[in-house]
Amino acid sequence: MVYRELQMVEAIKKILITGASGLLGGDLIKVLSNNFEILAITREHAINCSKRNVLEKKIDLSLNTAEKDLIKLNPDIIVHAASLTDVDFCQTHPDEAIRNNVTATEIVASVAKKLNAKLIYLSTDQVFDGDKLTKYSEEDKPRPLNIYGQTKLQAENIIKSNLKQYLILRVSWLFGRRDKGFINFVLKSAKKNKEINIVCDKFSSPTYTCDVGKAIEFLIDNFTFSGEIIHFTNNGQGCSWLEYAKEIIKICGLSDIMIKPITLAALNLPAPRPKSTILDISKFLKLYNQPLLTWQEALNKCLA
Ligand SMILES: NC(=O)c1ccc[n+]([C@@H]2O[C@H](COP(=O)([O-])OP(=O)(O)OC[C@H]3O[C@@H](n4cnc5c(N)ncnc54)[C@H](OP(=O)(O)O)[C@@H]3O)[C@@H](O)[C@H]2O)c1
Repeated sequence: MVYRELQMVEAIKKILITGASGLLGGDLIKVLSNNFEILAITREHAINCSKRNVLEKKIDLSLNTAEKDLIKLNPDIIVHAASLTDVDFCQTHPDEAIRNNVTATEIVASVAKKLNAKLIYLSTDQVFDGDKLTKYSEEDKPRPLNIYGQTKLQAENIIKSNLKQYLILRVSWLFGRRDKGFINFVLKSAKKNKEINIVCDKFSSPTYTCDVGKAIEFLIDNFTFSGEIIHFTNNGQGCSWLEYAKEIIKICGLSDIMIKPITLAALNLPAPRPKSTILDISKFLKLYNQPLLTWQEALNKCLA
């Protein structure tokens, strides 16, 4: 019995998660720590997780010293979720975008190669130009409109040309327990004003971070990492920011809040945005072959 237990302990795989303190990283740890040993890489913000199988290490992935530090941790699998994700900041600070999204990925890819570890890279719907009238499949040609999307595509290409055992998982419009993004914006605005302005002509698919974690767990167990791209979002037809905001307001019971539709152009943001980047997830669904929550169901679950 003791020997069997020892064998089971030995079989537990070590997963290194970059961006562990981010919106997605927190829920990746929550889901993946049920079955794996976690090496959580943070930079500025600590996670302070008390689970025994979660080890936190502070490493700036864009520094030359990062490679040596990561190699010492010797993971079996790397989930590379760290990124500079502020799209407008990337546009006005291209050098920082390149350092955090491209240089950091070069280092992580080199570590994966040297350790013969599998790499899952989190990419984005913003590699597409948003001009397609239907959903984007993995076969569609990327053409990013902004620096953030360009650096994410550069990172994808570094992985493709240097590794064999990789999976590029493109996700969109993440929401989760640590939301500092759209949900947070809608609820904060609703606290201050009775009428809020929301963009009605930008479309994609909201995606729950816990469901990304479950998808990654499934793919680790069932997928041969032979170098592929997979699109993942919650199920359904996608929506506009306006429909997304209306759903948040409905779930939170804020029926007295009025939403005024505005155009994306009216915001005059520094970075151009693709108009419609709803991802086609049929490749994932074929592999998964079990029910996947719609974004409305997942949003209900998260906000509950
Ligand atoms: N959020 C979305 O809607 C969305 C949509 C599509 C794709 N994605 C992709 O999904 C992934 C996760 O996104 P997210 O929203 O969870 O990001 P996030 O909340 O902005 O967190 C980013 C994380 O990356 C870390 N990081 C950035 N640069 C680093 C560096 N040089 N060294 C070490 N750590 C670094 C940050 O650490 P510190 O805070 O400690 O500095 C933070 O933990 C990203 O790859 C993103 O491109 C996100």
